Amino acid sequence: MSTLVYVLNGPNLNLLGTREPEIYGSDTLAEIEAALHEQAEGLGLAIDFRQTNHEGQLVDWLHEANSAGAKAVLLNAAAYTHTSVALLDACRAIAVPVIEVHLSDPSKREEFRHISYVGMAAADCVQGLGARSYSVALEKAAAL
Ligand code: DQA
Repeated sequence: MSTLVYVLNGPNLNLLGTREPEIYGSDTLAEIEAALHEQAEGLGLAIDFRQTNHEGQLVDWLHEANSAGAKAVLLNAAAYTHTSVALLDACRAIAVPVIEVHLSDPSKREEFRHISYVGMAAADCVQGLGARSYSVALEKAAAL
């Protein structure tokens, strides 16, 4: 049984810390990554944490997670969550369970954020807890 969990982050999440902190909090992505590595160690898991601003890169990494036989993918696809049929198809195409993650709660924001293509294929979703969304999602991945 694999202990590897991919944590994939989409566009603009590299700007966390300074990007709309009233919505996303003040933690940087590097701080979230460091905390998650520590948590993963305690859970007996290893994480591969990545960020890209490019949709196709996320698709390629989902395929890679599948080829690597990963235990789970935590996916914060950011804005592509709400637009990307390609990500929906990729999540459906792989055997690895995908857990959707959001810092904010998109269902309580603008209407265009209410649709989630990722959510149509995800095994679970954690949102609205700020940086803690990632850690709750990792606990869920550990329990899979
Ligand atoms: C987000 C929510 C999305 O609606 C938004 O486009 C993001 C971040 C979140 O983590 O709260 O970029 O995925």
